[in-house]
Amino acid sequence: MLKGKRILLIVAGGIAAFKALELVRRLRERGASVRCVLTEAGARFVTPLSLQALTEDRVYSDMFSLTDESEMGHIQLSRDADLLVVAPATANILARMAAGLADDLAATVLLATDKPVLVAPAMNVRMWTHAATAANVETLKKRGIYFIGPNDGAMACNEFGPGRMSEAEEIAAVVERMLAPAEQPLAGKRAVVTSGPTREAIDPVRYISNHSSGKQGHAIASALAALGAEVTLVSGPVAIADPPGLTTVHVDSADQMLAACLEPGRIDIAVCAAAVADWKAAKPATAKIKKKAGAAPPSLELTPNPDILATLSKAGPERPALVVGFAAETENLVANAIDKRKRKGCDWIVANDVSPATGTFGGERNTVHLISATGVEDWPTLAKGDVAMRLAGRIALHFGRPKRAEAAE
Ligand code: CTP
Repeated sequence: MLKGKRILLIVAGGIAAFKALELVRRLRERGASVRCVLTEAGARFVTPLSLQALTEDRVYSDMFSLTDESEMGHIQLSRDADLLVVAPATANILARMAAGLADDLAATVLLATDKPVLVAPAMNVRMWTHAATAANVETLKKRGIYFIGPNDGAMACNEFGPGRMSEAEEIAAVVERMLAPAEQPLAGKRAVVTSGPTREAIDPVRYISNHSSGKQGHAIASALAALGAEVTLVSGPVAIADPPGLTTVHVDSADQMLAACLEPGRIDIAVCAAAVADWKAAKPATAKIKKKAGAAPPSLELTPNPDILATLSKAGPERPALVVGFAAETENLVANAIDKRKRKGCDWIVANDVSPATGTFGGERNTVHLISATGVEDWPTLAKGDVAMRLAGRIALHFGRPKRAEAAE
């Protein structure tokens, strides 16, 4: 997929630098050529020799090396690539990028480049959540720098939270999406995708929500964008990063989610993958509800949330040409999903079994059935990213614009 593509990989100093070696392998097995810039701190974690052996190219570190500059100046180094990837990106290199510093070869190359830049942050959770880093990330995003991760998880420093660098495979997949020869059957189509849970306030500190991770919805948004659609992802509170190449709108409640779905105006495709809370508090308290000694627990009066899928499915001139819903069921999966498709008025339902034994909720894989007016398709168990790609491919087919591979099937 990346044959003939040239990637400049900038390896900064962090414990995650060892994953850069794996990343080189993942990129090269996809056909890309990889050249590395290693910062001084990066060289404390991985050796130039390892990178050189894996890239089969020399490794650049020194801005003032006479031989490097005569053979490959830093300007040429930064432009002689289709994409720059910074992995791991430390808090320090993000700060230097945001400030426009050119105090070593890596920073200079990043300042001089006219090519897209993908950044995979890796750092201690407190460094990642620090206001200074957050401001730098915001600045860089506004300048068009693409981010992947960081992921949540246990960290080398014995803390837990966001800060782990994305896995080499995830980064390589994003690189592929960014550089693979454009095959954009959904170009010109506008899509809205809902993802994640919603959060319904009981009082200013308590809420009703669920365990949805947003992984499937986010993957669908990315897949539609990869096929050329202009995508607005409306996401409830999730722990995963905004996907590159599309617009993400962050919301909390179902009411906010519905408003954000209607905001883009006329759309062609709606995919409702969010796990919207069915009910919200009828009268959320404006102040924290206090315990009173000896008093009975307060009762919570609930009222239904708007049904976003059903609202978007309503017939009318503004109805998207294709509305897709999800059905998460634990029993009578297909029968319930067929019934749900009719009840909601949507065109397709992606039915998935979320019984605890399947590990679907929060997991990486999904076994789904695609239900339309014409029948039921049983899909094999796939990674959520592959379910997303397959669904996006089917959507392209629906619009009469098959991807080449599907046209040949
Ligand atoms: N959905 C929505 N807005 C809601 C509730 C659900 O958009 N307020 C969408 C989900 O995004 C998903 C589908 O509807 O696409 C799932 O419906 P579900 O919540 O399972 O439907 P229910 O009618 O609540 O079915 P059940 O109570 O049988 O699970």
